[in-house]
Amino acid sequence: MVKRRSFLAASVASAGLMIAAPFWRLAAQNDDGFFDLEAGPARASLLGTEGPPTALWAYGGSSPGPVIRARQGEPVQVRLRNNLPEPTSTHWHGIRIANAMDGVPGLTQEVVPPGGSFDYSFIAPDAGTYWYHSHNKSWEQMARGLYGPLIIEEHDPLPADREMLLVIDDWRLGEDGQVHAESFGSLRDWSHGGRLGNWLTINGASAPQLEVKRGERLRLRLINCANARIVTLKLDQLAPLVIALDGQPLPEVREIGFSGRLTLAPAQRADLLLDVFLEPGDRVQILEVTGQEGVEIGSFLCNGVAADGMAGREMPRLPTNNLPRPDLSDPLKLDLVMEGGAMGAMRSAVFDGRELSIRELVAEGQVWALNGVAGMTDIPLARIQRGRSVVLEFDNQTAWPHAMHIHGHHFRVMARNGQPVDNGAWRDTELVAANEKVTVAFVADNPGKWLIHCHMLEHQAAGMKTWFQVT
Ligand code: C2O
Ligand code: CU
Repeated sequence: MVKRRSFLAASVASAGLMIAAPFWRLAAQNDDGFFDLEAGPARASLLGTEGPPTALWAYGGSSPGPVIRARQGEPVQVRLRNNLPEPTSTHWHGIRIANAMDGVPGLTQEVVPPGGSFDYSFIAPDAGTYWYHSHNKSWEQMARGLYGPLIIEEHDPLPADREMLLVIDDWRLGEDGQVHAESFGSLRDWSHGGRLGNWLTINGASAPQLEVKRGERLRLRLINCANARIVTLKLDQLAPLVIALDGQPLPEVREIGFSGRLTLAPAQRADLLLDVFLEPGDRVQILEVTGQEGVEIGSFLCNGVAADGMAGREMPRLPTNNLPRPDLSDPLKLDLVMEGGAMGAMRSAVFDGRELSIRELVAEGQVWALNGVAGMTDIPLARIQRGRSVVLEFDNQTAWPHAMHIHGHHFRVMARNGQPVDNGAWRDTELVAANEKVTVAFVADNPGKWLIHCHMLEHQAAGMKTWFQVT
């Protein structure tokens, strides 16, 4: 089924053509101040000139959906209207949000039925690069295109000439260029690496050519919206600095260097600062690398010189967000043993209150477990007193990497396999390699019911999720 090579060969062949990325639209605002966000059927030319339009489910008629931009600390109001043939909800990924606005059906709200609507209204306490996406049957709804960027602006904008969004997705398309629906729910995907695609897009376009000018300083905001693909990018001959991950400014900026690589697990974001020193006419590739091989998924084309560009000036620093620092003297310690999947050792797990054998679990579509439990239960992983510092260890006893996401909180990465991580980043989603242990710490300061799950959406659907309650 996977025809990634031939599909991508087609995209490389067309890369010399100008394929314009869709024009970024800001979400429209109603008179009452609400952004209007309609989830419904749409069409997009994911294949560019190579093929027919692809039928999608999308926000505001395009995938990625319209950009929602707001100022740090100011209210964000969004009216979700559901024109899909099935129920949906919207989650504001990475926002330390009020619980009732978190968009998780069955935990924080009811699903929004077809024809229904839901008003989301929240304050975004942190500036940075975030995103919104469906949180109902997300393994299907997101694979069909239901996501978009959510940008929270700093009070003082970072000095840069321009901002550029690079929203990456990994679609699985059939021969007909349509979203491959027959493989939704495939047990193979659910028990292996998730739904990997065969058609990579940036901003909904195949191999777009992004225009830059010599002397410009760009702030790039990258978002990996793929269901399951861990995307490693190689930005040839450019040497951007990583200034933020998952929306949160890094304690120290990192170079990725001229031949450096940047890995984004599903749901992860990176903010980069890029000074353009290309010559007009230069075109450099954006490569997606697996192993030694790279495939072009887009490129930067230098098409002129910026009159008074900021490139080469002193590097600005992003102001840090006001995240609570965990007190490590006497934290609540939580272990999260991750089990299951193909080539795993799991023999049984609790599902729906009963201990099931692996065969019975498979019949329920469940193949992963956290602390011996597949999927959701009435009893949270932990009830935590508000303000308590938590040290949580993700203990991946599976043969697969997982992109572990905690709702409502950012956490600091403290150690990998017991080795302290110097100056670990604040993240909301962290990649935990096969057989790896990753220790994170955070202050459980946000009251409510919060999910922890793998952001490989098939793993989430097949059991790798739990929740905790802050009271
Ligand atoms: Cu981005 Cu629970 O998800
Ligand atoms: Cu996973």
